[in-house]
Amino acid sequence: MSFYNERQWLCRRIFMNYKKKGIPKQTHLFYGADYNPDQWQKYPDILERDIELMKELGATSASIGIFAWTSLEPEEGRFEFGWLDCVMDRFAAEGLFVFLATPSGSKPMWMSEKYPEIRRVNQDGARDSSGGRHNHCPSSCIYREKVSLMNRTLAERYGKHPALALWHIGNELSGECHCANCKASFQAWLRARYVTLENLNESWWSNFWNHTFTDWAQIPTYDHSIDCLELDWLRFVNDQHLSFLKNEMASIRELTPDVPCTTNFMCMHLSNNYWEWAEHIDVISNDIYPMPDDREGSWARSIKADFVHSMMRGMSGGKSWMQMECAPSSVNWGTVNKLKRPRVHRQEILQAVANGADTIHYFQWRKSRGGFEKFHGAVVDHEGSSDSRVFKDCAQVGSDLQALGSVLQQDCPKADIAIIYEWESRWAMNASCGPKKDTSLGPFPADIYTDACLSHYEAVTSSGQSADVVSARSDFSDYRMIIAPSLYMVSEKLARKFNAFVESGGILVGTYLTGYVDPTNLCWLGGFPGSSLRQLFGIWNEEIDYLCDGEQVTVIPEEGNNLGCYTEGVAFDIIERIHLEGADVIARAGSDCYIDSPLITRNSTSKGAAYYIGAKLDSGTLLEFYRGFVSAYDLIQSVSAELPLGVVARKRQTASGELVFLFNYNKEEVSIDLEGLQLRDTLTEELLTGAVQLASYSSHICEVVRIGS
Ligand code: GLA
Ligand code: ZN
Repeated sequence: MSFYNERQWLCRRIFMNYKKKGIPKQTHLFYGADYNPDQWQKYPDILERDIELMKELGATSASIGIFAWTSLEPEEGRFEFGWLDCVMDRFAAEGLFVFLATPSGSKPMWMSEKYPEIRRVNQDGARDSSGGRHNHCPSSCIYREKVSLMNRTLAERYGKHPALALWHIGNELSGECHCANCKASFQAWLRARYVTLENLNESWWSNFWNHTFTDWAQIPTYDHSIDCLELDWLRFVNDQHLSFLKNEMASIRELTPDVPCTTNFMCMHLSNNYWEWAEHIDVISNDIYPMPDDREGSWARSIKADFVHSMMRGMSGGKSWMQMECAPSSVNWGTVNKLKRPRVHRQEILQAVANGADTIHYFQWRKSRGGFEKFHGAVVDHEGSSDSRVFKDCAQVGSDLQALGSVLQQDCPKADIAIIYEWESRWAMNASCGPKKDTSLGPFPADIYTDACLSHYEAVTSSGQSADVVSARSDFSDYRMIIAPSLYMVSEKLARKFNAFVESGGILVGTYLTGYVDPTNLCWLGGFPGSSLRQLFGIWNEEIDYLCDGEQVTVIPEEGNNLGCYTEGVAFDIIERIHLEGADVIARAGSDCYIDSPLITRNSTSKGAAYYIGAKLDSGTLLEFYRGFVSAYDLIQSVSAELPLGVVARKRQTASGELVFLFNYNKEEVSIDLEGLQLRDTLTEELLTGAVQLASYSSHICEVVRIGS
């Protein structure tokens, strides 16, 4: 097959995979990195060496031109493509593919100085100086026009180039701008949403503290005392980035309709509702940087990454997705930038593949000589050879990925369980003054909502189950169990959807902080959980209590409960005062002023059931709860053996059957008992059965030789 045809084939594969159509056979995963040849134009030997090293690594592709606007347009209207022509041609000649970036992530100095309106303005009204990156005003018509022109020019020039496989649109879009353009756009956005000021004032409860607006022009971009405004502002910011992204893609799609477009997501980044973005791009891609320091522990770090991967799978409708950035060793922006310990890097990559990734790209190919990221981990160090530990490690991972070609074009197995994650609900809860704030820092922004979702994902995983992470808009009928942790904002429509799910035999799990507000962040009247959820769960949640650090309430399982829970546990941080209105008790409180108050309840219908957990539970109690589900509802586990904490098995379909990925995420070696199950490591040929020792951070990609009992 000619290179050109192979390129067409690849584009179709990426595109159709996402569009859920038939896909031609393809044998290798994409493996590569962000590559900045624009920085090295005065070093032709290094550019040549890069190609040799990419071939030595087993790379297939690179993302190019992400921050290269000035190299492409050194002066307004004067374009320079010579250097990029050479790179594209060289890649094509070597059988390498390019994910060609549109360079909007960083504005050229000349543009930023000539058109100050493209720079962002902060909450206090100060405009940014030129420089930095990811800081254009998303509303600026001038910047949108400049981006469209650049993208059109790139698409005209390279649209049919054999090296082009994918458009990498911008980079990690996010952030707020409070300039006059954004303020006017926000006011227009509100006008379209609420039509009349009376309606807006009512929806925002504006007469609280005398904030009634009498003219649209009075509405500011922020006022923390108006919690409904804060929610709408985040919705607007999200919409503004999305419309910027659509503007970027318009000319590209017109000229190259067969080349897929993506933009790189940032996990659960606070301000972007990626469920909405996912509907507009052709393939899902994500950047992830689990931090290799010891503060949160290896298991917590791994389960967060797993949650994110499951969310990407949810966004691509169960199809494969791309891991567009990750670090092959350390980053340079953490407070502690530790090197990854042996096997951690390989494990992180295989974890993504086990969860549906079919592309692994690093940030970055080569360390820059200067600039902010010169000490950020890279495949190629300043030393420049393939002798480095990191290069060798990456080459080994590259060969593992080659061997995994059989997972390509296969759907990821669908779980029985889905966990709902909703940005709008998170925004509403964070905007509301009251819930205790979790201010922990880190690469994954944490808050009470995200923390609740992660703890349920962790417990489900530890019970041997896989869970898809989905939006509340997804089709619930694909699942036997829906877990909706702390879904603070619930519309009437969603409440009806939950009712229909349970009526048709589904199992729903809700928790503390469910159904407090409607979609405008106004409290539901008539008792929580609001709308029709009070009847569905068969409880009334009268009050919420935020405990001080270190305070606990004991949790006592009810004798003979249907989940077989029997171990006493504890609740901490958050506890609700629940009254039964038809539900049965699974566990009650055993201390403080809560003695005998129900904490975990079940309301059964003729076919399904709605469970409510009215407190934040310790991890052991939550795990026992989900283990109870596995046996009570006969849920099928990834492997038949019971695995210790931090050991996870995932299955992925292959062209001829399925593979089991077995991971030990613990820092320590652990022993597991596979009993009658026999697995063969496809790389080492090692047979795993009975009692097996798993080295710290070890990963096995296995064929199933014999299914255990
Ligand atoms: C982000 C950016 C990259 C790079 C990395 C560093 O993901 O997209 O350009 O700055 O962070 O970790
Ligand atoms: Zn602006």
